[in-house]
Amino acid sequence: MTALPPAFPDPSAAGVYDSVLQLIGNTPLVRLNVLTADLPATVYVKLDHLNIGGSSKDRIGLHIVRRAIESGALEGHDRIIETGQGNTSVSLALAGLLAGYASTVIAKPDLSPQKLALLRALGADIVPGRLDVPKDDPEHAWVIAEEHERDDPRTWWSRQQSIESNPEAHYLSTGPEIWAQTGGRITHFVTAIATGGTVSGTGRFLREQNPDIEVVGTSFDLPEKPWAENHLNQTFHRRPGYEQLERDWADNIDLETLTRLEAREKGEIIDFAFRLARAEGLLLGPSSVLSVKIALELAVAARPGDVIVAFSADHARDYTSAEYDGPWLREHGFAEIADRWLDPASADAGNDAGADTDAATLI
Ligand SMILES: Cc1ncc(COP(=O)(O)O)c(C=O)c1O
Repeated sequence: MTALPPAFPDPSAAGVYDSVLQLIGNTPLVRLNVLTADLPATVYVKLDHLNIGGSSKDRIGLHIVRRAIESGALEGHDRIIETGQGNTSVSLALAGLLAGYASTVIAKPDLSPQKLALLRALGADIVPGRLDVPKDDPEHAWVIAEEHERDDPRTWWSRQQSIESNPEAHYLSTGPEIWAQTGGRITHFVTAIATGGTVSGTGRFLREQNPDIEVVGTSFDLPEKPWAENHLNQTFHRRPGYEQLERDWADNIDLETLTRLEAREKGEIIDFAFRLARAEGLLLGPSSVLSVKIALELAVAARPGDVIVAFSADHARDYTSAEYDGPWLREHGFAEIADRWLDPASADAGNDAGADTDAATLI
């Protein structure tokens, strides 16, 4: 059980803002209570899905547009094209819209219907493309984006996988926030890797403050021993049909900053997502759940007083037609997970997870 707060927050602390873009950054840290019982370390989750557009990518959407305007890169352009997994598309469409730029989004076939609806609501043009084919395939999103840029000189491709303002956004905001929020006590930062912007920018800032901080990148479905063999820039293949991280290890991954890489099977993480929801009331996207899981594993072996921060990039709400959906789970080979957590008749483990404070069995 977690104690209820005795009252609502001080109303004088409620902010007033001039634009939605001011509601990017300064996201809260929340401590885990149930899953960390008896563990030596404190584990916090950085709730970056509370950015106004619904994901941590708001930081880079805003900063990429800001820097591109400042540097003159957007001069003569009136449209921004983006090829990501959905979160960056929403964020760039939002920042672009308010700064006066139209958006084109290359959408992969399994882009979640929720994100597609948001993109349409923001007025983005949607063009189909893929990320699960070779990079020179005419259907690959990057090839399509290049074509658009070539054929329409008013279109500008943001290239989040290699543009410097992606990690820089986290270097200038996420890192300083976490350092301040933990009073400089952070010992481990754990985050999922897609383009590498979060891990590289945040990690670089934190390690500049304290070089002993562990910066842990997390991923699904990694080929064997990529870290030892330094294969981080190789393509890794994931099973089709999942809401996945980027297909390629992108240029923005800073290998100097990453001190450790942890990969886990998707099924294990989806199962843990329900446990996390029931125990802590945290509803997070799968890559965020992955980071929380790794953070808890690190906490078991941590020193007393260690402060571990796991990063939440997006909310479970974006995955209610996928990893959090019973029929989807059954269709994708996770019937056991659906039985355990969503089918009360066959589940005997799920509903009392919040009451179980034995951390070893919970993580
Ligand atoms: C679902 C998801 N996973 C992981 C990440 C980390 O991304 P990156 O490595 O591109 O910073 C993000 C970033 O917002 C995300 O939206």
